[in-house]
Amino acid sequence: MAPRDTSKTAVDKLTEKQAKAEHARLEAEIKEHDEAYYQKDAPIISDAEYDAQRRRYEAIEAAFPNLRTPESLSRKVGAAPARGFAKVRHAVPMLSLQNAFDADEVADFVGRIRRFLNLKEDEPIAFTAEPKIDGLSMSLRYENGTLVKAATRGDGFEGEDVTANIRTVKEVPHQLKGKKIPSFCELRGEIYMTKAAFLALNKRQAEADEQIFANPRNSAAGSLRQKDPSITASRPLHFFAYSWGEIADKAAPTQSGMIEWIGKIGFRTNPLWKIVRSIDEMLAFHRDIEEKRAKLDYDIDGVVYKLDRLDWQDRLGFVSRSPRWAIAHKFAAERATTVLRDIEIQVGRTGALTPVAKLEPVTVGGVVVQNASLHNEDYIKGIGNDGAPIRGGTDIRIGDTVIVQRAGDVIPQIVDVVLDKRPKTAKPYEFPTKCPACGSHAVREEGESVRRCTGGLICPTQQVERLRHFVSRTAFDIEGLGEKQVQAFFADGLIMEPADIFTLRARDARAAKKLADREGYGAVSVRNLFDAIDARRKISLNRLIYALGIRHIGETNARLLARHFGTIEALRAALKDAAKDKDSEAYEDLTTVGGIGEVVADALVEFFKEPRNNDALDRLLVEIEVEPMEAVKKDSPVAGKTVVFTGSLEKMTRDEAKAMAERLGAKTAGSVSKKTDYVVAGPGAGSKLGKAKEFDVEVLTEDDWLKLIGETR
Ligand code: IVH
Repeated sequence: MAPRDTSKTAVDKLTEKQAKAEHARLEAEIKEHDEAYYQKDAPIISDAEYDAQRRRYEAIEAAFPNLRTPESLSRKVGAAPARGFAKVRHAVPMLSLQNAFDADEVADFVGRIRRFLNLKEDEPIAFTAEPKIDGLSMSLRYENGTLVKAATRGDGFEGEDVTANIRTVKEVPHQLKGKKIPSFCELRGEIYMTKAAFLALNKRQAEADEQIFANPRNSAAGSLRQKDPSITASRPLHFFAYSWGEIADKAAPTQSGMIEWIGKIGFRTNPLWKIVRSIDEMLAFHRDIEEKRAKLDYDIDGVVYKLDRLDWQDRLGFVSRSPRWAIAHKFAAERATTVLRDIEIQVGRTGALTPVAKLEPVTVGGVVVQNASLHNEDYIKGIGNDGAPIRGGTDIRIGDTVIVQRAGDVIPQIVDVVLDKRPKTAKPYEFPTKCPACGSHAVREEGESVRRCTGGLICPTQQVERLRHFVSRTAFDIEGLGEKQVQAFFADGLIMEPADIFTLRARDARAAKKLADREGYGAVSVRNLFDAIDARRKISLNRLIYALGIRHIGETNARLLARHFGTIEALRAALKDAAKDKDSEAYEDLTTVGGIGEVVADALVEFFKEPRNNDALDRLLVEIEVEPMEAVKKDSPVAGKTVVFTGSLEKMTRDEAKAMAERLGAKTAGSVSKKTDYVVAGPGAGSKLGKAKEFDVEVLTEDDWLKLIGETR
């Protein structure tokens, strides 16, 4: 039975097992988002959603402390440095801040400090309050007043060396001013791009067909992380300094004194900072800055309060990844009301149909918004991912007055509908069941909220992606025809579908403009390409099935199908019958192929149901010869066993080993579980060995394995 979706269950209601699974799921997601945010400068989810995931992760650890291992993400910040830049170890880690989202959480923060320091109730306590800049944090090391190293935060302990790039930023002094400069000091702060510069840069990028940035933060990060510092120099980056790392001598005993000193030695500090002496003053500062937010020419996402006395800061110290003496008080998401003019359906590279709201333009937090995400079909209907109603079950209709939200978001969201303003004529939205790009039918899998186009091979938005997959190493593996070439040939109309690859030579012979005349090609390279294509005219059935790019059909399922059906004709005939009805014998038979469940069976049925996919396959089959699959040996010593290969094998590749095992009737798996019979471990085997021990699974060396199956090499 599939595990129950517990992502909405209150933490205190989770069983230990659910908590463990949920913790692991969140960990994987957070890691993915960290990588997208820190290394690719291209976040996938909004900051608010990320914060929510992180909070839930930490709440689970608080409730189930044994999940909090030294590897836990709550002990780390950010992500490991991106490749390509030298690494810099921070002498003092660059940590992160805890967040407060409302007045109570700010009061809790002050209360915790008072308790920790054992302060009397009437003991005065002061904080600095300053805007939280939504940029990229940076540590700048000065020795005897000269800038020697600039590093990004990275994972908080190790960042990237961006010294050459930082030297091009005018607001970063190369030389500190003043007489009493410490022999060494690290100044920290935020690199950012103004909102206006971000918009102008995106305009230029779009004109030059270059990367578009999601927000000013990403554009600052992308501009700084350039291999060529002259590109960084051409981008208008700014810097606000607000703290320090390792330092020989502190110039003042307070945070406020230090900020003033940082200003005096030549840095820009944020002019809006001030001292606050009570919770009321903190909240008033927060309100005031929130009001100014839209008018500021840089993005901020909250305010930061820092305890003013440094001796108290030292006593308080840190808890996991953030200081006890500071907190970020975030702003609520920015919202506005506008009219939904239309719903447009976009088709992604993988065939997902995504609804996009076309709005009457409206300013949300200083940015004009015309498009917003509507997520999926259910979201429009008022149904959440877990099947429960959202917005009280209210659907979204064209003509509705809607509430749009930006929460430091990449894409603004529609969060609610003003029902009182719904026009009488507004009708429930009917989500298309045909792909708007190619007309193929679009289907939803059970339990999935996304509707997908099934016309994989012929849908223009998916074609390039499919072709790329088709020629990839584990599919047709055509030398000299990689991703780049496929894209270029597609753009020129030379290869639109798989069959075109194999007719390229004949068409070129007839063409006026020869391939050999293309830039980057010559007679020899074209001949080599044609030969490489011809070499793949004979293909194994499993590779062909895999190459079709059918949803859920990875290499393993393709092999299972190939072995079960033996020929492409048999597979197609079976699917034709299976498509007629789910109670048919053919459908039953399909779901009994080891490892093929209903979801996979349905994906196959859908693919082969689409006549245009079949036509494209027919055209391909004219060009190639498919080798039938060797039958499985049912009487081998490993028939029916599940095997996991791990580490590097020396006498064969992992793919070869898997194919061999499967030929002998064994199943191969990617991870070790109770059901595993053997783990075949080569040098460098890692965590899978530990798992094998845990589940008491027999571990074999490569030679043991070969002996077991009666092979000598
Ligand atoms: S103080 C020990 N002050 O927010 C904590 N951080 O979530 C030192 N940030 O990594 C950080 N504006 O990138 C501080 N005025 C400000 C800030 C600020 C933006 C960023 C910084 C930090 C992150 C923490």
